Amino acid sequence: MQDGKVTILRFNPEVDSQPHYETYDFPFVQGMSVLDVVLYIYENIDGTLSFSYCCRNSHCGLCGAKINGKPGLMCRESAAREMVLEPLDNFTVIRDLMVDRQEYDKRKDSLRLFLERGEVPAKQPEKVDTEDQENFKVVSRCVECYNCVSICPVTRVKKHEFLGPAGLMQMARHAFDPRDELNRGVVARSSGILNCINCGKCNQVCPHKIEPAKNIKLLRSKYFGEV
Ligand code: FES
Repeated sequence: MQDGKVTILRFNPEVDSQPHYETYDFPFVQGMSVLDVVLYIYENIDGTLSFSYCCRNSHCGLCGAKINGKPGLMCRESAAREMVLEPLDNFTVIRDLMVDRQEYDKRKDSLRLFLERGEVPAKQPEKVDTEDQENFKVVSRCVECYNCVSICPVTRVKKHEFLGPAGLMQMARHAFDPRDELNRGVVARSSGILNCINCGKCNQVCPHKIEPAKNIKLLRSKYFGEV
């Protein structure tokens, strides 16, 4: 067991006028996750530290934070002996590492995130071409951790003109579903999909390697004929 040091950006809007950094020692063990460190601090040093998590297995998407400057899932990233943890950018901080996800969730309400069918299929179970399903399967891996939204430079400056990659990946799940019958082009346009500059930063931070920028391009090609 060796000594580790973690510096965390703390902010409690009820008592702090400004965010500030605090440094904590922890027993560093090779292979421990960043979430293990945060839980250690919470359980042994400061029970007021706020953060979100649930599954501890990269599935719930709740434990996103900036780890040494890069967005990642705390349960998935290995701890380093020295680390700086900060809340995700582009979100309102509720407290410490906990950000307001609801604000973003509400913006997805208009996306009609369900399978749109005109009629019940004549034959059940319905046969779906596996090749058609490929893109659908990839975007379905999105766990809405919002790492991509936090690093998106367009979302940063045009928050209300571009929904950001995560919301568009949720829409893509249905747009790429061969059974879906809705033309989602209108919704895609009003979500600001044409404002994406295809910088690819979202691809670099997606824990499930979905490549949001590539899929945004596919959506634009599907609905607006872009190549
Ligand atoms: S705790 Fe669920 S994704 Fe990290």
